[in-house]
Amino acid sequence: MLPNAKELLFFHPRSTGAEHVARYPWGVNNESATQFLHPDRNLGMELVRATEAAAIRAVPFIGKGDKNAADGAAVDAMRKFLGTVDFDGVVVIGEGEKDKAPMLFNGEHVGTGVGPSCDIAVDPIDGTSLTAAGRQNAISMIAASDRGSMLDASTVFYMQKLVTGAEGRGVVDINQSIGDNIRELAKKKGKEVGQMVVAVLDRPRHEGLIEEIRAAGAGTRLMLDGDVAGGINAAMYGTRIDICVGTGGSPEGVATACAIRALGGHIQGILAPKVESERTNGLAAGLKFDYVYEADELVNSDNTFFVATGVTDGGLVAGVRRLGPIIRTESIVLRGRSGTIRRVTADHVADKWL
Ligand code: FBP
Repeated sequence: MLPNAKELLFFHPRSTGAEHVARYPWGVNNESATQFLHPDRNLGMELVRATEAAAIRAVPFIGKGDKNAADGAAVDAMRKFLGTVDFDGVVVIGEGEKDKAPMLFNGEHVGTGVGPSCDIAVDPIDGTSLTAAGRQNAISMIAASDRGSMLDASTVFYMQKLVTGAEGRGVVDINQSIGDNIRELAKKKGKEVGQMVVAVLDRPRHEGLIEEIRAAGAGTRLMLDGDVAGGINAAMYGTRIDICVGTGGSPEGVATACAIRALGGHIQGILAPKVESERTNGLAAGLKFDYVYEADELVNSDNTFFVATGVTDGGLVAGVRRLGPIIRTESIVLRGRSGTIRRVTADHVADKWL
């Protein structure tokens, strides 16, 4: 007789393999026993409950014009659900300081405290303005990696980024012109330059960059907000985006790096302080300026998880949908160690959420 689901649930993650074999002498071998010693294997599937909750709680605020109210509801839900997950998480990247939005605080401990020690990056809503306006592409996301492995870039709000799929490694470089990057990557991918698509945040600061992309012959996908999803789409196989470039939030940069490490893509970042105090505080925190951070410096571990749930519909995941008595969520769960990408569609009984 194999242990049933309930027994497995009560198997304490800190038990030893020997204890497990003693408890289940009916044939659970040592190999399967040791598998139970790696609760982190399922961490992504646990964390996704928190992004689902944040996305669901943000729904009443979609299109209502109040981005802080949407963010606040998502933050509360995420904090509550994270509290039930068996891990010892420290928030290294708590988005929100840049625009004084509600947030999970840097240094805040989350989880039950039992289980793997992790750094986490959270963005209960990436795309708060999109949500408030009722626009597409808002997601709720959490990234986790081994404790001490995430770059704490919290003193500097912006980062210049370049993201591509694995084909970009050794081919594109953030210090190379965007025109050269487009041409080199097109060659590597066996595509015409005219078929290349580059995602960029639609901001006045990117005017010159956008002109250069078009002058090279490539097309742009101008994003109103949400460069985490843009970066993931650039790294994921089978999407329309080849490159994601430009300056966006540095928290989003580190979070994207977790996803890119899991996907095996390419990401580089350069910190982009706006005011001198960011540079001073960054230097004091040990950050480097005018320096290209590679993927393994943004997140120094391949034991990364990235989970995201759609708030509003987008190219990465569909938004929360009400189907009669059901609330349907769509998420992706990436696990770096195995390189697995899971798409999780969950139906939640609406009554339980009212
Ligand atoms: P929020 O929804 O958390 O405000 O972030 C949206 C976002 O577009 C990020 O995806 C991006 O990295 C950053 O803001 C860009 O900052 P800014 O809007 O100041 O250019």
